[in-house]
Amino acid sequence: MAFTLTDEFKQRAEKICARYPRRDAALIPLLLELQREAGYVAEEAMDALSGYLGLPYSRVKAVVTFYTMFNRVPAGKYHLQVCRNISCHMAGAPGLLAALRARLGIEEGETTKDGLFTLSAVECLGACGDAPVLQVNEDYFGRVTAEKLDVLLEDLKHGKYPSTR
Ligand code: FES
Repeated sequence: MAFTLTDEFKQRAEKICARYPRRDAALIPLLLELQREAGYVAEEAMDALSGYLGLPYSRVKAVVTFYTMFNRVPAGKYHLQVCRNISCHMAGAPGLLAALRARLGIEEGETTKDGLFTLSAVECLGACGDAPVLQVNEDYFGRVTAEKLDVLLEDLKHGKYPSTR
């Protein structure tokens, strides 16, 4: 499938590139922009971005496959990523994952039928001091309890994106 970077994207991309000493340093922010537009980063989008930045496709793909924040297939409006590493595991991450599976009726890697939620278990999010940590799209929610999770899910279902503070 042909994929073209839109003029709007290119305008935003130029502003982002201008913040960095080298254009290739803008790779991750630009991938996030692409993901915001489409909900995921398709192979064709990686290809288009590699041409735009003058980078090898393999480098773009390596970044997208390394970071779990990038979706390579269409994801729900809210991508719920539960950290499963040791600090979060000991602070209750398995219970959070189980609660999310039960509440949403999906397993990890799946998306709810209404397209609202995708669930993933991911490696350390680098916020171990706030374990257990849940990432929703690009935002972190720390010290998540069952009660906080209920409130968060209800807010998201009703289109209210909660503050991370
Ligand atoms: S172990 Fe969960 S954020 Fe590091």
